[in-house]
Amino acid sequence: MPLVRVHNFSISLDGFGAGEPQSAEAPFGHAGERLHEWMFGTRFWAEGGSAGMDDSFALRHSVGIGAEIMGANKFGPPGWQDDPDWKGWWGPNPPFHTPTYVLTHRPRSPLEMEGGTTFHFLSTSPEEALAIAQEAAGDLDVRIGGGATTVREFVAADLVDHLHLVQAPIVLGRGTRIWDGLEALEDTYDIEAVSSPSGVTHLTFTRKAGTAEVPA
Ligand SMILES: NC(=O)c1ccc[n+]([C@@H]2O[C@H](COP(=O)([O-])OP(=O)(O)OC[C@H]3O[C@@H](n4cnc5c(N)ncnc54)[C@H](OP(=O)(O)O)[C@@H]3O)[C@@H](O)[C@H]2O)c1
Repeated sequence: MPLVRVHNFSISLDGFGAGEPQSAEAPFGHAGERLHEWMFGTRFWAEGGSAGMDDSFALRHSVGIGAEIMGANKFGPPGWQDDPDWKGWWGPNPPFHTPTYVLTHRPRSPLEMEGGTTFHFLSTSPEEALAIAQEAAGDLDVRIGGGATTVREFVAADLVDHLHLVQAPIVLGRGTRIWDGLEALEDTYDIEAVSSPSGVTHLTFTRKAGTAEVPA
């Protein structure tokens, strides 16, 4: 059965997936690039990077994925909905290469990009968005791409089977936090932590056998 997965989602020690304020100049607010420095050093990110533990985790992001769902604040800076020409941060050939569903209360027409990515804009519940993405993904898995608000929403709705978080050794103090309103995830998930020589901790949350939602 296809899974719902989160990969490479980077958080600070205090659980923030982005700082504040988010803007076109600073997409991650005062966090800058610090949440993702572990990834920039990998071969996954750039030729010549490391092929160690961080790279092995990072690579799983792209394997077996047939669609992505992301939040409006990942797709663009505050107010992008007012710009009819905004097509995301990633240029003409975004790195998704699948149907990609952007949750927003101000949806617009689909945007077909190069390389197999088509952005679709949805204003609907996590359950309905997931059903649409799963239909598009067929036998493949659906990735929940972030930000923290969207990951939290899908975890809270008990829709996520596997969650890979990367805890960077920084304290942000403010921003968008993944943990708010979630508790006792250890009842639903087997949780493992592995320290990388780069200084980050890879955390995996894997749904315990027998706790899956029964499809309607
Ligand atoms: N740490 C990481 O690895 C990582 C990964 C990806 C992104 N990011 C960063 O995280 C930040 C964005 O995260 P975020 O938590 O602020 O926001 P987000 O999860 O990207 O987006 C939240 C927004 O999506 C829309 N939305 C969510 N659920 C919806 C639903 N069911 N129906 C309709 N609209 C819905 C709403 O926007 P509207 O009401 O405005 O439409 C909501 O405010 C950015 O800085 C991004 O660069 C970090």
